[in-house]
Amino acid sequence: MIAIDSAAVQDGGKGVRFSLPALGEFATGFVVRFNQLPYAYVNQCAHVSVELDWNEGEFFTAQGDYLICATHGAHYRPDNGFCVLGPCKGKSLKPIALVEQNQKIMINLASISK
Ligand code: FES
Repeated sequence: MIAIDSAAVQDGGKGVRFSLPALGEFATGFVVRFNQLPYAYVNQCAHVSVELDWNEGEFFTAQGDYLICATHGAHYRPDNGFCVLGPCKGKSLKPIALVEQNQKIMINLASISK
């Protein structure tokens, strides 16, 4: 379980990355906020196994309506990780369970499926 300050994850703004040692030395996950709710995913595109953010923490499109992969532009729904546009359309990001309470987002690393 890791805890991230709620205030660090702004609605439609930058996401916060964190390490996922269970998935490998350099593996990361990220949490974003969309329509006030936080969502966390493994930071790995469903197309090719690369991180989504070209600039650290930049996961949203310019319009702030979808998460976008910086490599080939796949668009994912922020609220369920489903790919709606791009080379991996129909696939999904891997979600990570979380709970937000007392101004903290508690991320349940044990919930990650490999
Ligand atoms: S690697 Fe993400 S869209 Fe191709």
